[in-house]
Amino acid sequence: MRTQVAIIGAGPAGLLLAHLLWRGGVEAVVLETRSQEYVASRIRAGILEHSTVELLDSVGLGDRLRAEGFEHRGIYLQWPGERHHLDFVDLTGRSVWVYGQTEVQKDLVAAGHEAIYEITDTTLHDVDTERPYVTFRDADGVARRLNADVVVGCDGSFGPSRHAIPDGVRRTWEKTYPYSWLGILADVAPSTDELIYAWHPRGFALHSLRSPTVSRLYLQVPNGTDLADWPDDRVWDELAVRLGHGQDGWTLTPGPVTDKSVLPMRSFVQTPMRHGRLFLAGDAAHIVPPTGAKGLNLAVADVGLLAPALIALLREKDATLADRYSADALRRVWRCTHFSWWMTTMLHASGDDFDAQLQLSQLRWVTSSEAGATGLAENYAGLPIGF
Ligand code: APR
Ligand code: PHB
Repeated sequence: MRTQVAIIGAGPAGLLLAHLLWRGGVEAVVLETRSQEYVASRIRAGILEHSTVELLDSVGLGDRLRAEGFEHRGIYLQWPGERHHLDFVDLTGRSVWVYGQTEVQKDLVAAGHEAIYEITDTTLHDVDTERPYVTFRDADGVARRLNADVVVGCDGSFGPSRHAIPDGVRRTWEKTYPYSWLGILADVAPSTDELIYAWHPRGFALHSLRSPTVSRLYLQVPNGTDLADWPDDRVWDELAVRLGHGQDGWTLTPGPVTDKSVLPMRSFVQTPMRHGRLFLAGDAAHIVPPTGAKGLNLAVADVGLLAPALIALLREKDATLADRYSADALRRVWRCTHFSWWMTTMLHASGDDFDAQLQLSQLRWVTSSEAGATGLAENYAGLPIGF
């Protein structure tokens, strides 16, 4: 088999890249280890930055987003006794959208780009030559080979692509956090119109949402937390304490929990994001803690830079953008990595009183100083792509 761009991974990065390349007249084949149904059904958050929405709009993927998504002007920051709204639109002119990523995936799968699902033994070959190729076994176990001009690793943090960059070339940075998130989905109307990020001495809590009838909430818990120790009632009771149930007449309405999971938190960056004819995009190159809602948006930003670079390289033999891709992408990666770390360390209880005083001082500053609030707002709502 032959194509121009072999894309490994059918998550947001891989499928959006295939769509952008198709619009640019470049052939691509997506190789995915999971089934098409699984990929299209993964329920994941979508806090879409302003730039993400603009990009999806520009390539014909904004209709359902605007029909089924929810535009939010900002977020609430809270600590015991106080809750403050940050209005991103007033501060920066940019809003964010809450939109199930599942819909984006469904639209991308529906766009019908060539993809081979349920593969195994994905192996990258000769990525530092002009004739890279990928071998794999298809769903029937038949050994296949896909020859390409370029290979793009969109295979997330556990895929093989980032390891195809030689040890002597590759550099990684990793930070793990001393806590995790316990997340629940519940069939109950959200108790808030916009997201509430709450600092509390017992630990962080987040009230997010999926729709007018589905809420998404998180609690900071110790690493290694066993879900068996957190029956639904205990989760709701702890959320009520941390989110300030009863404060200024506000109440948290519990409801039936339909999903419960514990998510570890880490920051990870690998450089470079290009080696020869191999390019990396999305979680294959970087992971951020979810506090800043940057995971999906960073994947989109990478692809927004990579697609024009590959179109120029393969259609006009102009390597200028391709040669700049890694440096350009990493500027935003480090900005979002810092912001996600900053939001995480500002909002999560560490058990240390000195830390607590610093955290509360930061929260008082970003909710009372226009400069402080604007700093948070421009990072959360998203800097222009190419920042
Ligand atoms: N061969 C083929 N496909 C693979 C392999 C492999 N060996 N290993 C992993 N994959 C696939 C996974 O099954 C997954 O569908 O690569 C895809 C990676 O997709 P994501 O993990 O969603 O990563 P990405 O597309 O970069 O999306 C980044 O989206 O939902 C958000 O927060 C999430 O940060 C994440 C962001
Ligand atoms: C979510 O809705 O799952 C969500 C929202 C905002 C975050 C993290 C997760 O910062």
